[in-house]
Amino acid sequence: MSAIVCSHVDKAYGATTVIRDLNLSIEEHEFVVFLGPSGCGKSTLLRMLAGLEDISGGEVSIGGKVVNDLDPGDRGIAMVFQNYALYPHMTIFDNIAFGLKRQKVPAAEIRKRVEAVSRTLGLEPYLGRKPAELSGGQQQRVAIARAMIKTPKVFLFDEPLSNLDAKLRNHMRVEIARLHQSLKTTTVYVTHDQLEAMTLADRIVLLKEGVIEQIGAPAEIYLRPANMFVAGFIGTPNMNFVEVTVGRSGNGWTLTGAGTVLSIEGRGFHLQHGDRAVLGIRPPDLKTASAGVPGILQGTADLIEFHGNDALVTFGSGGKEISALVPARECPTLNAPVRYTFEEESIHLFDATSGASLRKQ
Ligand SMILES: Nc1ncnc2c1ncn2[C@@H]1O[C@H](COP(=O)(O)OP(=O)(O)OP(=O)(O)O)[C@@H](O)[C@H]1O
Ligand SMILES: [Mg+2]
Repeated sequence: MSAIVCSHVDKAYGATTVIRDLNLSIEEHEFVVFLGPSGCGKSTLLRMLAGLEDISGGEVSIGGKVVNDLDPGDRGIAMVFQNYALYPHMTIFDNIAFGLKRQKVPAAEIRKRVEAVSRTLGLEPYLGRKPAELSGGQQQRVAIARAMIKTPKVFLFDEPLSNLDAKLRNHMRVEIARLHQSLKTTTVYVTHDQLEAMTLADRIVLLKEGVIEQIGAPAEIYLRPANMFVAGFIGTPNMNFVEVTVGRSGNGWTLTGAGTVLSIEGRGFHLQHGDRAVLGIRPPDLKTASAGVPGILQGTADLIEFHGNDALVTFGSGGKEISALVPARECPTLNAPVRYTFEEESIHLFDATSGASLRKQ
């Protein structure tokens, strides 16, 4: 049985629809990440699962039971928010125990459970302190402990790490991944940070304007984006897009654009002579070309961003700005001529009008 099912779910605020006919099944023990740009409806959808927002249309079930009209407290879920306000005047122990005390759980049982979650999250040394005496990451762990102690069927996280600095975020991300490995509780996690999504998710649900653009494992979304939106959203530095005209040439195809003609075999794609398409290439998939190689992208390096191990080289090719991520030792000097080639397996082609991938399934 699926842990969570959304069936034709809509959400409207007055005349504005923010989630449209959304269908999604989340399996038991799965870690699913809702990813998408600001305002795409991630939090709204999560809050509908939690019961904090009404559902305007369709059905949400949790553990096989329709929960549309069920109170948040009766859904078997626990939620961790971005702003995880802890009670400042209470000790960490009391903050974690708060929900159980309200449920009138006996004191000895509370102590046992607080100690157990504190051990899992490494909070034992801090149980007597107040929240102000903890670091941001430790406070975040207390918020997770507070959710965990309810032993929910489902964890819901809404950007739980966005208030932390970069180093702490990395650390907490690893802790959340470990926690899921040991508890295996079904988890839905909202973020607009693609690195967080890629590293944590079993599956990513990529949203845009309240509609699912693609659902898939991180590698699938990265390697086989369903459309230009997904391709452009996932991957840093961003994928290069070059408008091309498709031509038939012998057994293969030509792609004409950005001041050059590229030859491909094209067997992996649905192509037609005369089609207008968009060629997508990720910067790390461009390789420095040796002299004499035909069908390459070339130009003059007009911007170089040194990253350490590698460098992002931006060059103009036929009036189009293209970026290549190359090993630092291959980094050209500014204004030097550059030539890059690529393997056909690494390219993407999209319909120029609809943006849909032209890749054969
Ligand atoms: N109470 C409300 N009334 C009207 N519109 C709302 C309300 N709450 C959210 N919205 C709108 O719904 C859309 C989705 O909002 P939501 O908070 O779900 O986005 P999000 O994907 O979580 O974005 P972010 O990454 O910025 O948190 C936005 O356009 C927002 O303006
Ligand atoms: Mg949000």
